[in-house]
Amino acid sequence: KIYDDAQAAVVQVAGEIAAAIRERQASGGKFVLGLATGSTPVPLYRELIRIHREEGLSFANVISFNLDEYFPIDDRHPESYHRFMREQLFDHIDMPDEQINIPKGDVPREEVFDACKEYEDAIVAAGGIDIQILGIGRTGHIGFNEPGSGPKSRTRLVTLDRLTRLDAARDFHGEHNVPRYAVTMGVGTIMDAKKVYLLAWGRSKAEVIRAAVEDDPVENLPASFLQAHENVSFILDTASGSEL
Ligand code: GLP
Repeated sequence: KIYDDAQAAVVQVAGEIAAAIRERQASGGKFVLGLATGSTPVPLYRELIRIHREEGLSFANVISFNLDEYFPIDDRHPESYHRFMREQLFDHIDMPDEQINIPKGDVPREEVFDACKEYEDAIVAAGGIDIQILGIGRTGHIGFNEPGSGPKSRTRLVTLDRLTRLDAARDFHGEHNVPRYAVTMGVGTIMDAKKVYLLAWGRSKAEVIRAAVEDDPVENLPASFLQAHENVSFILDTASGSEL
C-alpha cells in the first residue's frame, strides 16, 4: 500500500491497530502487539499516543513484545531500545509495566541462550502476537535478522552487519561505540505473528523494498521471507515505493 506520505500511512495503520485493540477489549481479552524501533515507527507511535489522549484508547489490555535490543547494552544507555521505547511510547500511554517485554541486552553472555528461550515461551504463553510492526534495514534485515538469517530462525544472539553498525554510528557518536551484537526475535518468530505491517519511508529504502517484494525469497535478504506470510502489508510512502 503506497500512501502520499508517512503521516497518511500511519494514520491508517494506527486506526487499524486501535480498532483491533478495542475489539479485543470488548470481549475482555488481552491484545498482543509486536513493536519495532528505529526512526520509522516513531510517527506511528505519535499517532497511537494521540488516539490514546484524544480518543480515549486504553492500552491496559495490551501486552507488548519488542523485536530486538543491542547486546551488550545497559537499559539506561541513551541508545538502548529499552530507553527508546519508554521515550517514544510507553511513558505516554497506560500500558502496565509488567505487560511490556523487550529482549534483555544486559544479561551475562552465558545466560543469553536461556533468556532467548524464555522470550519465545512468553510470546506463546501470551497467545502469540496479534499484530507485529516492522521497519526494514538497508541490509534487508527485519528486527536484527541480518543477511544469513534463515526463515525458521528464533530469538537469538546475532552479530550485526557492518552496514547496520555504520547506519547506527551517528546515534552512538562513532562506529566503535556501536555494540557488535544484538538479541533479536527470529524470522520464524516474526512469521508466527497473525498480522504483520512492514513500514518504510524515503528513497533510501526503495531498492531494498523492491528486492524484498519482487525478488525470490533468499537468506541474503531476510525481509523477502515475508512474501510467504498470509497476512502481511508493506506500508510505504511514494519514495520508498518508487522502485516497485
Ligand atoms: C534497526 C532496527 C530495525 C529497524 C532498522 C531501520 O536496525 N533494529 O528494527 O527496522 O534499524 O531503522 P530506521 O527505521 O531508522 O531506518
